[in-house]
Amino acid sequence: MPSIQIHDKIFVPYLSQQLIQQRITQLAQQLNQDLQGERPLFLAILNGAFMFAADLFRHLTIEAEISFIKLVSYKGTRSTGHVITSIGLDEDLYNRTVVILEDIVDTGKTLHEFLPQIRHQHPKRLLITALLSKPDARQYPIHVDYLGFSVPNRFLLGYGLDYDGLGRNLPEIYQLKNAEE
Ligand code: IMP
Ligand code: MG
Repeated sequence: MPSIQIHDKIFVPYLSQQLIQQRITQLAQQLNQDLQGERPLFLAILNGAFMFAADLFRHLTIEAEISFIKLVSYKGTRSTGHVITSIGLDEDLYNRTVVILEDIVDTGKTLHEFLPQIRHQHPKRLLITALLSKPDARQYPIHVDYLGFSVPNRFLLGYGLDYDGLGRNLPEIYQLKNAEE
């Protein structure tokens, strides 16, 4: 895999397409076993998780639903500070098994601020599935129930992840090349 240049940045290969697909197949097998008979509702977070969601969902053999939501942050009142809410969430989550699909959990801030809105609807179970997690970057406690890869605290690109809107189409994942490398 050659390196990729976007604007002034160089990205070097990190996770191959084959490795990503193998891991996703394993995650799907686990979900097939664990959530059989529960008719889970998968909620994929746009934009980043679209590719992961499509590949994972293709490998599910259990009865399952999927919906795509976008998180938007806006300025709330002085006491609430900035607030994250979702658009496109039409489903009633009461008593459902809900599985959030994220591309990457970095600081954890996004999910930390959004999950209370999901819990507010009293799902039966709330599970987090993320392709990638950067544990060293975590500032908010987020437990990932199904994780593809634990990765170092470096900027990643490809397979849904973008730099300035570009690079989401790459079938493999790249890592930002350090200046000294
Ligand atoms: P968090 O709120 O810090 O956990 O970050 C969540 C979002 O930031 C992810 O869903 C991604 O969309 C984006 N993000 C975090 N790390 C990266 C990265 O390395 N490359 C591209 N996007 C990232
Ligand atoms: Mg995201």
